[in-house]
Amino acid sequence: MTDVLRVDPANPDKELIARAAECLRAGGLVAFPTETVYGLGAHALDRRAIQRLFAAKERPAHDPLIVHIAAVDDMVPLVVEVPSAARELAARFWPGPLTMVLPRSSRVPDEITAGLATVAIRVPSHPIARALIAYAGLPVAAPSANLFSRPSPTRASHVLADLDGRIDIIIDGGPTDVGLESTVIDLSVNPPTVLRPGAVDIEALRDVLPDVTSRHTASSDTIAMRSPGLLRKHYSPRTPVVLYEGDREAALRSMKHEAQQRVDRGELVAALLFADDVSELRSSPVRIVDLGREDDPAAVASRLYAALRECDDLSANIILVRNITTAHPLSGAIQDRLRRASLTPDT
Ligand code: TXA
Ligand code: MG
Repeated sequence: MTDVLRVDPANPDKELIARAAECLRAGGLVAFPTETVYGLGAHALDRRAIQRLFAAKERPAHDPLIVHIAAVDDMVPLVVEVPSAARELAARFWPGPLTMVLPRSSRVPDEITAGLATVAIRVPSHPIARALIAYAGLPVAAPSANLFSRPSPTRASHVLADLDGRIDIIIDGGPTDVGLESTVIDLSVNPPTVLRPGAVDIEALRDVLPDVTSRHTASSDTIAMRSPGLLRKHYSPRTPVVLYEGDREAALRSMKHEAQQRVDRGELVAALLFADDVSELRSSPVRIVDLGREDDPAAVASRLYAALRECDDLSANIILVRNITTAHPLSGAIQDRLRRASLTPDT
């Protein structure tokens, strides 16, 4: 049985948080909201809890987890040393949607890092996540609280759909804010390298560390080796996705053409459309799911995974979607997730 605890993010109920924290201390699994997506928490230093977590998500053991802590000093026992770059980034971006990868100490179980010599760490800013970690008094390992091979959850209902009966507690704190997973930066290499784009964009990182570079192209083999989880299908819906990049008019023309051909073959086609594109495809017999306004990337990001799940629920044969072209700090992260969603399972 999975208990769902409703908690007000503006004023987290102490008794409910204490109950969830006690569950974590005892080796249980607790899903909770962060400012990015819902995480599935487990005691990071308890190997059995971590093994249960991998089993609940059906996550392969080669995909390392992020450890969530309450404050920068809680990194000390988990890493070889806290470099000045980490302190500077923490001062600017923590608590918040940034994960740092650093050489790990021997206290971090191999199960967390998938045998890598590094560990990924972040301090989330969501008041429920903060309260939970503080009450538990532990480092909390938390991957996104979805079944492996499903989009990350941005609402408690998404967690319930994937993990009901597999985990002990879901804290329902309403929809998450950002909607995309944290930016991951590798500080164990020189220059520091962004492995996964997120709400903290590379320009903001370069304000603090000018030589930050990025290697997050969705098909890069280097990333596949350095950050094993990043290439897998776990950013995507079950339904195959065809992505149209670049110029709006050309993309819409190709989309309409593809939609018509598929409809003629008897397929059910879902079109994930920006608000301004809806009128362009309204006449074609496709199922339209609205992605929000292209000129409001923050709203698109917060809605993206829910929209992909809605497409899945239509049981369509295919999802057609045009990539965002707006220049905005979040646009790179949205483009990255849509590219990953359109990868086939073995790319
Ligand atoms: O926003 C987030 O980061 C959310 C919330 C819950 O905090 N968590 C999240 O976790 O997205 P997860 O497990 O779905 O993604 C973690 C990814 C892994 O797939 C892997 O690519 C990368 O972080 N990662 C973890 N440890 C790493 C390491 N030692 N070296 C390189 N990459 C690592
Ligand atoms: Mg994930």
